[in-house]
Order: sequence, then structure tokens, then C-alpha cells
Amino acid sequence: MNLTFDQYDFARRIVRQQCGIVLDDNKQFLLETRIIPVARQHGFGSIAELISSMQKRRRLDLEADITEALTTNETYFFRDVHPFDALKTVVLPELIKARSAERRLSIWCGASSTGQEPYSMAMLLYDEFPQLLSWKVDFIATDYSEETLQRAREGAYNQLEVNRGLPAHKLTKHFTYDGVVWRLKDRLRKMVQFRHLNLLKPWPGMPKLDLVFLRNVLIYFDLPTKQAILGKIRDRLQPDGFLFLGAAETTMNIDNEFQRRSVGRTSCYHLVPPKPSPVALAAAAAAASAAARTPFGSPFGQRAFS
Ligand SMILES: C[S@@+](CC[C@H](N)C(=O)[O-])C[C@H]1O[C@@H](n2cnc3c(N)ncnc32)[C@H](O)[C@@H]1O
Repeated sequence: MNLTFDQYDFARRIVRQQCGIVLDDNKQFLLETRIIPVARQHGFGSIAELISSMQKRRRLDLEADITEALTTNETYFFRDVHPFDALKTVVLPELIKARSAERRLSIWCGASSTGQEPYSMAMLLYDEFPQLLSWKVDFIATDYSEETLQRAREGAYNQLEVNRGLPAHKLTKHFTYDGVVWRLKDRLRKMVQFRHLNLLKPWPGMPKLDLVFLRNVLIYFDLPTKQAILGKIRDRLQPDGFLFLGAAETTMNIDNEFQRRSVGRTSCYHLVPPKPSPVALAAAAAAASAAARTPFGSPFGQRAFS
């Protein structure tokens, strides 16, 4: 039995409250299809029964399962290619140069789904920047969905999944086939720490970040949610750090504290440098006018040429 519109509205509000995903009026069929397994798993005769039971009494477990079912976990290795080319040719060389004294890098892949995205980055680090093996690289990958996190931690992919985006030489170099699935070798699997993180909630323990990949997730949220998330990234991104969003996502007209930078055939974002304070501007103007009154532009000029 299908849901009434009121029941649909009740269910989609839960999803929005829990993880920010906005479901339009025309997504009722999608919601119904996705929650059929939840209803079955919890012993309800139909999805309408499931929702009407939730309307009578709050069930946090059902809310979590419905929300999980509504996340879209589509991902694949080296998705969109160009961001990974940008990492290889520009972003990582710049960061490595800038951090060569402390030899430390902090990377976050938010919305990492089943792991193909952070593992693509890990392969790139391992293959192209072997010097990083002796650095302290904090590589965190997070997602809302516990199911995807579990799969990501396992690092096991079926033939169809490895056929999507993964070059054959990387498959044979970094995976072993156990007769059923391709397993990522431990040296790469252990590079990435997978954690649960709801982008809507506080982000405890999130360090200062040099590189952020947050791709193909902002599209599901409304404007205030996107603004809140970008604001939290702003608080954590290093002044020379890099933010990558999905191909259909942007900070433009959402958060003007980011500036777009073209890198090869893609673009990324940096923080807009802070404006000098009025006090600093006044001090600079005073220094410039004092210098203009001094022969040869500096107090030393006068002495050197007198
Ligand atoms: C389409 S996948 C994108 C995966 C990967 N970033 C990529 O581009 O291939 C979107 C991911 O966002 C996650 N997600 C949705 N809402 C979230 C939230 N509130 N907090 C954290 N992750 C969320 C989903 O669980 C899903 O795995």
C-alpha cells in the first residue's frame, strides 16, 4: 500500500531533520521504494503501517534506518578524473612545498561513501608522492551512513565496482583477488581512518585541514544547510588549504568567503585572504607617508648617502 501525502511528508521531514537531505514533492516514489526493506526488516506488513506506527510513537531506530535508506551512495574510483589530475600536478606539489618544514599533512574526505574516493586519493599519494610515506599524514574519511563506512573500512570491491574508474595497472598493484572480491592491500587501507560524521551536527576532533574533498553531497541540502557546512569548513581550512566540491556544486552565491581557482580542467576553492584591519591600514599609510618624507625612501638611505 502506498503512503498518503501526509505520511510521505512525515517521513521526509524525518530524513531532513536527521541528515539534511531534502526530498521534493516528486520524490515520493523514491522514498517508498527505499523504505520497503526497512518495513520488512522491522516486521511491518507495509510501508504505510511502518509510518503510521512512527506517527503514534517516536522510534529513533526506525528514524535512523529510514534516513540511512534515503542516502544516495553512488561513487566510483577516480570520479570525474580532473580533480585527481589537479591533485597530482598542482595541489599536492604546492602543499608539499608549503609543509616541507613540518612534514605534516591533514586531509579530509567528507561524504566518503563506500571508500572509492578516499582510496583513489590514497593510491595517488602512494604512487606519485612516495616522499609522503615518511611524513605524518592524517587522512580522515567520514560519512553519515554506517553501512557505507563498514564497506569502506573493509576495502573489498566486486568486479563491477573495480571496473568503474580504476585503471588496470592500479587494480593489479594495489588489490588482491580472493576469488570473489578484490581486496585493497593493507598498506593503502590503513592510510585512511574512516569515521561516522553527520555534516549537520558538530564535528568533534576535526583538525585544521590542508585539503578537503566534499563532493556530491551539498547538492542534497537546502541553502542554509550548505551555508552552515561551508562555514564549518572555513573555520578549519588552513589559509592556503584547498577545498574540492562536486562538478555540479559551488560556493558561489552561498559563501563569499571562498574564492574559486581554476586548476587544469577543474576548479577548487581557497579562503579569501582576510582584509587588513582599519588599524593595520592606518599604520601602513602612516609608514608610507613617513617613508615619503625620508630621502631615498628609508632612514638608512639618508645615512648611507650623506
Ligand atoms: C553521492 S555520495 C558521494 C560520494 C563521494 N563523495 C563521491 O563524490 O563519489 C553522497 C554521500 O553523502 C553522504 N551523506 C548524506 N548526508 C550526509 C550527512 N548529513 N552527513 C554526512 N554524510 C552524508 C551519503 O551517505 C553518501 O555516502
